[in-house]
Amino acid sequence: MADFKIWMNGKVVPGEQAVLPVNSAAVFYATNCFEGLRAYWNADDGEMYGFRLAEHFARLRESMKMMRFSVPSSDVDLYEAVREVIKANGVREDIHMHLVAYVLGTGLDATTPTGLYINPRRRPSAPAGLRCCVSSWTRTNDNAIPIRLKSGSNYQNGRLATLQAKADGYDTPILLNQSGTVAEGTGATFFMVRRGVLLTPPLTADILESITRTTLLSDVIPELRLEVQEREIARTELYVADEAFLCGSGYEITPILSIDRFPLGTGEVGPITKKLSRAYMDLVRGVDKRHSEWRTPVYKPMGVTAAR
Ligand SMILES: Cc1ncc(COP(=O)(O)O)c(C=O)c1O
Repeated sequence: MADFKIWMNGKVVPGEQAVLPVNSAAVFYATNCFEGLRAYWNADDGEMYGFRLAEHFARLRESMKMMRFSVPSSDVDLYEAVREVIKANGVREDIHMHLVAYVLGTGLDATTPTGLYINPRRRPSAPAGLRCCVSSWTRTNDNAIPIRLKSGSNYQNGRLATLQAKADGYDTPILLNQSGTVAEGTGATFFMVRRGVLLTPPLTADILESITRTTLLSDVIPELRLEVQEREIARTELYVADEAFLCGSGYEITPILSIDRFPLGTGEVGPITKKLSRAYMDLVRGVDKRHSEWRTPVYKPMGVTAAR
């Protein structure tokens, strides 16, 4: 099947027409802010649901603020753009999208114009289990290029770590921060289980303020009556974890089977990871009907009132 059409600055266009000017900082410095989000097909409802769009738009705005971009679109415009691109492509399957705001010109002026595009694409769900390493690359620090800011330029840090991990025979790296404690994966937040308790690094550990992490902490984990602690995690705690997983809009909940070749627990996906993954997938798809405010329908008239 052909690639999906792209929404770019108010129009839905074929992929080959969605181009960026070569003399823009968007191209030569990756001066952009973006969100990675998913929409899920619910066959029973005959509907596509965008998951937690309001939170993605809010984070995009925060990134744009920190990058000193002008913010030309309202949330209502963004909701409409996401729904429009899915409808224009007639999508009735799970998809991932990047919503990218980029600067034209040099980007060294806070009034520089920005553009926006949304590129739906197929992204298969999580693989069965990852073999991770602890990267020798350090997670960028909040005083350098803060990871709280979701800009394409930040992702060179994760790219270097990923290529190194693959060259060394692993699937993906886990990055430590400058203090030497666990930060996160390259595009996902980290959780582990030890002695029945879930652990995840705090928001001050040079991690992204992940929407999936928040969904787990505020809803899925309490709903399953599991115990969780947000606290610093030392490197060697990784090696004695009973279970671990990476989570994110793209990763969903992806189990980790080993770290630096130490098998975790039995070396199979653990029971807590399985439970969380099932509960999370039911929630995002709307099989679990709670929190309908988190799922924006695409084909029905929109029932969400977004702030301007
Ligand atoms: C560096 C990084 N950490 C964590 C995440 C997970 O964030 P979210 O759950 O909001 O998708 C992402 C995904 O975008 C990411 O790029």
